[in-house]
Amino acid sequence: MMKVLLINGSPNKERCTYTALASVARGLTEHGIGTEMHWIGTEPIKPCVSCHACDSTQKCAFGETDGVNELIEKAAQADGIVIGSPVFYAGVNGSLKALLDRVFYAAGSRFAFKPGAAVVSARRAGTTAALEILNKYFLISQMPLVSSLYWPMVHGNTVEEVLQDREGMQVAHQLGANMAWLLKAIAAGRATGVTPSTPDSRERTNFIR
Ligand SMILES: Cc1cc2nc3c(=O)[nH]c(=O)nc-3n(C[C@H](O)[C@H](O)[C@H](O)COP(=O)(O)O)c2cc1C
Repeated sequence: MMKVLLINGSPNKERCTYTALASVARGLTEHGIGTEMHWIGTEPIKPCVSCHACDSTQKCAFGETDGVNELIEKAAQADGIVIGSPVFYAGVNGSLKALLDRVFYAAGSRFAFKPGAAVVSARRAGTTAALEILNKYFLISQMPLVSSLYWPMVHGNTVEEVLQDREGMQVAHQLGANMAWLLKAIAAGRATGVTPSTPDSRERTNFIR
């Protein structure tokens, strides 16, 4: 069975962001895709220190101690990845940002061609800026971005309020259904020999010449 990893980037294990992610998960399971929810927790998460040890290992140098390398393996084994974040000061939760910088810098190439999607939860504003930050991880990793009926966001400060945002919950649910469809389309394509094309070598220019 194909499986999608959902990362809950809130310090609250089962509150607003979780409620949105659970709706995405329902959309996936209703269409025959397995799900696994990973909560980032409340322990401090070290940021990337740009040591570049991961260049050769595709693992984070200190990821053995705080579970980041385990998460990298889970993401690499998954068929798709969904990231959820609460909106903090019109961006994503800083702990989640620290985690994602390390996961994707170390191992982003291992996630190529897996569909990715993001969903955010806010009381009121900053949703689109937060979504942009999350979607950028997928867009630099050759991950097809999954869309829905609207930009994937829910509004609320409590689970009850998020559930009242029926449109947001529907958009999240449809996001899961759309990811299920894309996963099946990719699998069907692979079965008939449709594979992605990648360049033989990678250009890398650090400034505009
Ligand atoms: C530090 C902090 C910053 C926040 N900044 C914003 C913000 O910029 N815009 C907003 O609408 N809500 C903001 N909120 C509210 C949360 O985004 C909102 O309650 C969210 O649904 C919480 O998700 P959770 O229950 O999964 O943690 C902030 C909350 C915290 C704790």
